[in-house]
Amino acid sequence: MSPDTNANFELACERLSADDVVAVPTETVYGLAASIHSERAIRKIFQLKKRPFFDPLIVHVNSFAQARALTSDWPALADFLARTFWPGPLTLVLPKRDDVNPLITSGLPTVAIRHPRHELTDQLIEKVGPLAAPSANRFGHTSPSRAEHVRAEFPDESLLILDGGPCEVGLESTVLSFDLAPIGGIDVIRILRPGGVTEDDLETALKKFSRAARIERGSNEIQAPGQLKHHYMPDIPLVLVDELANLNSRDLLSLIEKNTNSVMKSPVELVLDADPAIAARELYAKMRALADSGADVILVRNSKLRQGGFWDAINDRLSRAATVDLT
Ligand code: TXA
Ligand code: MG
Repeated sequence: MSPDTNANFELACERLSADDVVAVPTETVYGLAASIHSERAIRKIFQLKKRPFFDPLIVHVNSFAQARALTSDWPALADFLARTFWPGPLTLVLPKRDDVNPLITSGLPTVAIRHPRHELTDQLIEKVGPLAAPSANRFGHTSPSRAEHVRAEFPDESLLILDGGPCEVGLESTVLSFDLAPIGGIDVIRILRPGGVTEDDLETALKKFSRAARIERGSNEIQAPGQLKHHYMPDIPLVLVDELANLNSRDLLSLIEKNTNSVMKSPVELVLDADPAIAARELYAKMRALADSGADVILVRNSKLRQGGFWDAINDRLSRAATVDLT
């Protein structure tokens, strides 16, 4: 650790132990963290983000013992997936123990848990215990994949940001819940939010699991806000356009104006890298840079070739970040 990072790390431990919040790096996006034992700090997360209390938080752990201490049931399937993908971008929704603060889980009987893959945050959890943390952005806004993005989200706050460099994955974790079948039946894994651990990754891993499990997309329950239609939105409209659209045509701009009810003069195109891992890593930084560039609308071509694997998560975020989908 550099002397600066070391000093901030010590300060982060102090603040988290003193009922305050700290922005922390993970491999996915930066989180706004509170000790799971501090109700005051947990409330501050919702207040700073202007996040409604009905949107539950993910608890970040650094061991199986911590994860199991939060849950009233630790099924073999969850254990297998955690052993395969932790530390990493996979969040497991499991039945919670009574003593997990309902503010974290929005009163739900379940708790979302993951072990993030970032050395600094791992050490922080080692010192202060599990951390409840949503992404460190204002509610509904683009998530931060660099420390400076967090500062841009909360400019007036004396918020401590532990700078761990640019996030390696760049998109939020995959969130899974389970419908467990009785003996002899088939367990169902539900992908509530696609992310860095893809459906293919899960399929491949499950071949080594002793019981049959089926993967389904989406929830059969009330949708949580992370799964709402409009989320992750930049400061200017983002519009998905067809692969072949002529981005400079007056017709296209008129169509966008009609759909967004505003005058558009200077469109700018967000070009994604052909490699989905790089496209994901760069996505939020590009969205932010273009929103600050003086342009008044961001256009993204929706390539039909870019589907499956990690593209599912990228397309999910783009469609929720979009004001209009013209494809
Ligand atoms: O990669 C990530 O997951 C990042 C980093 C900081 O770990 N965190 C993150 O948190 O994206 P947040 O709060 O922005 O999104 C958490 C998602 C939300 O969609 C929330 O509704 C869902 O997880 N969630 C949390 N607890 C849940 C539960 N008990 N049941 C269903 N969904 C849950
Ligand atoms: Mg979020």
